[in-house]
Amino acid sequence: MKKLFIKTYGCQMNVYDSARMAELLAPIGFCSSATPDDADMIILNTCHIREKAAEKLYSELGRLKKLKDERKLTIAVAGCVAQAEGQEIMARAPQVDIVVGPQSYHRLPEMIARTARCGGQTLETEFPVLEKFDALPKGEGPGSTSAFLTVQEGCDKFCSFCVVPYTRGPEYSRPVAQIEEEAARLVARGARELTLLGQNVNAYRGEGPDSKMWSLAKLLGRLANIDGLARLRYMTSHPRDMSDDLIAAHHDLVQLMPYLHLPVQSGSNRILKAMNRGHSVDDYRRLVDRIRTTRPDIALSSDFIVGFPGESDVDFAATLALVRDVGFAQAYSFKYSRRPGTPAAAAHKQIPDDVKEERLRKLQLVLGEQRAAFDAASVGRVIDVLFEKPGRRARQAIGRTPYLQPVHVENAAAYIGEVRPVHIDAVFPNSLKGTLVSARQEAIDH
Ligand code: 5AD
Ligand code: SF4
Repeated sequence: MKKLFIKTYGCQMNVYDSARMAELLAPIGFCSSATPDDADMIILNTCHIREKAAEKLYSELGRLKKLKDERKLTIAVAGCVAQAEGQEIMARAPQVDIVVGPQSYHRLPEMIARTARCGGQTLETEFPVLEKFDALPKGEGPGSTSAFLTVQEGCDKFCSFCVVPYTRGPEYSRPVAQIEEEAARLVARGARELTLLGQNVNAYRGEGPDSKMWSLAKLLGRLANIDGLARLRYMTSHPRDMSDDLIAAHHDLVQLMPYLHLPVQSGSNRILKAMNRGHSVDDYRRLVDRIRTTRPDIALSSDFIVGFPGESDVDFAATLALVRDVGFAQAYSFKYSRRPGTPAAAAHKQIPDDVKEERLRKLQLVLGEQRAAFDAASVGRVIDVLFEKPGRRARQAIGRTPYLQPVHVENAAAYIGEVRPVHIDAVFPNSLKGTLVSARQEAIDH
């Protein structure tokens, strides 16, 4: 058996792709290794969303070159940096054997064979997305309690700051039957929770078994029928694609978790317009109101960018005001990062880094407070927890609430793979601690 080490950067989509690459290479004799030290093949699955990705990649490749000088090693660069800068990587880093884009990695086995046979470098950065999903292996053996499933890839939105439409290509939705088959297989392998992934997942429009185009809501309704599937989630959504049927699904489907990642990016109309987001601040507020009316216990998460070109103090204050008004359980926030080739990179009024830094600090302070308040509000409540894995202590298990908060529970190891009501006893910075309701009841009875 040869050893394979995959290092994954960036989003959940890359996590999904890395898992598929590992499965793809298993039949040709690669088993996954947790360290690069004794690996025969190393894949760097890269992310291009913000700056310094390329620099990070080249310094990592520098380290790997030393390993390769000492022993036989195949080095592959996959993911979005490979897609965007494939030729340059090959030229700058001769130690790289394979460069493969996110839509062509199903061709890895033949690329590895070609490298072994002929030496030299191989590059594949086409967009044969249909072929990719058909070619991916089916996966065997026990899997994880919580699994990702890519249903949609690419983006046609062209937000002016974002490289995704260029690196991942145009929107493509997998057919319903193919997704249903993969979902059923994941559940048969032990998954109790599925997160449907897509760069623009709620723009999903895939061919249904009736040959009509199905929406994400309809797809979710179908998957909810799979026996043994307890929880469904989807990410990442665009506010413009939160259709009525998808909002209704949050009311109608018990499996659909009351937690929604809905990036807004900014609270200023002027900036949203320059970002080409296609929605206003009020559109977002109204949307959140409608979602909360439909599903009162829903919690929201979001993405924010500070220091977008031309962002004034007034614009930034509007973002803080939106955050205060809406209230988020969790959020990701970033300093604007100039991406060559995107329209915003050419804008005149770039914001100095110290201003971006200060705004990010202020925003994260408010978001951090909101997150802490949200977590603190769970103390004393009984919440359903899906147990995923053993904890560090004997018989302890770690699970997640509907809001993805990790919960540590004693004497719960027997329930891994199941959902149980848990009384939340305490909150820590990154997790909660609770007691099984059945155990509390026993304690009271005795
Ligand atoms: N600079 C900073 N943040 C960005 N994002 C996307 N592109 C950029 C950029 N150029 C953020 C957005 C998006 C998340 C995945 O990454 O907030 O929602
Ligand atoms: Fe990028 Fe905008 Fe598409 Fe999201 S919707 S992937 S931010 S272009």
